[in-house]
Amino acid sequence: MKRIYSIGGGKGGSGKSFIATSLGVLLAKQGKRVVLVDLDLGASNLHTLLGQKIPQKGLDAFIDKETRNLEDLALPTTIPNLYLISSTKCSLEIANLFYAQKVKLISAINDLPFDYILLDLGPGTHFNTLDFFLVAPEGLFVATPEPTAIENTFNFIKSVYLRKLKLALKQTNMWYVFKEEIAKLSRGTLKSPMELVDILVKREPEKGKLFEDLLKRLKFKLILNKFRGQVTENLGEQLVDVCNRHLYPSFEFLGNISYDSRVYEAIVARHIFIRKYPYTKTVSDLQTMARTLTEKRQQPAELRISR
Ligand SMILES: Nc1ncnc2c1ncn2[C@@H]1O[C@H](COP(=O)(O)OP(=O)(O)OP(=O)(O)O)[C@@H](O)[C@H]1O
Ligand SMILES: [Mg+2]
Repeated sequence: MKRIYSIGGGKGGSGKSFIATSLGVLLAKQGKRVVLVDLDLGASNLHTLLGQKIPQKGLDAFIDKETRNLEDLALPTTIPNLYLISSTKCSLEIANLFYAQKVKLISAINDLPFDYILLDLGPGTHFNTLDFFLVAPEGLFVATPEPTAIENTFNFIKSVYLRKLKLALKQTNMWYVFKEEIAKLSRGTLKSPMELVDILVKREPEKGKLFEDLLKRLKFKLILNKFRGQVTENLGEQLVDVCNRHLYPSFEFLGNISYDSRVYEAIVARHIFIRKYPYTKTVSDLQTMARTLTEKRQQPAELRISR
């Protein structure tokens, strides 16, 4: 059974790439066939976290149509079963992909023949980042337990909902019917995508419900990284509770990952942290998380709305 997870969250430096790499290594060690896709176009660095040199082949070859099959760009790593599709050769300009290129890439990612496909995203809420985040039916948000990071995460979540809603509306005539309201949302007169959904449900109950279901189907898992002793132990549960009450009940807390200064040392020395320091609290936290991700259950299927 194939699973796709995107790993994102608005804040830069929260540990998205470290977690993507670590989960990739742990899942591969469980015997799963795993591919890490570096979608931080223009600033990719998964190869460094894996202690490898700059890969010679990457996403640019697929985007430039030199390689037709994305799987051919999945290069083996030093960990058996773990593959990397790098984007080191993608320049910053490529971060502004044409829509058609992006759709092709997204569809090719979905078709990759691996047990686990882990998508590492860059920071911020650029629409490309949101679209890549939405490739997966389940997204992992990485935040750190600081108010700024938590604020950014909430913004990111709202932006993901908004992007999903806008893309779906654009495919139907509802886009024209509710043009005014959509403009209000963009201007900030309407505060959240949920408010727009409420309007849709009131005015067009049947179709409105479909859009509501579409957003409710998105599943999110929160990870608190760089967790230190002085932080309230159940902060993650509290945050997820707030999200489930104020957004949609789609949030689950995946766990805390302890701060360890040796993560930095390992990265600087180009060692894989998990290999170098396997008996640390940080690795045991990551192992618990990897086990949760392999629990037997289906990922939610994509809901399509027709005209
Ligand atoms: N659990 C941890 N304990 C200690 N340091 C950590 C931990 N996780 C990450 N770091 C540190 O945070 C830095 C940033 O991590 P990482 O590159 O994974 O963040 P990111 O969210 O991918 O950043 P960007 O948004 O720029 O892509 C790492 O270089 C490492 O030094
Ligand atoms: Mg990163």
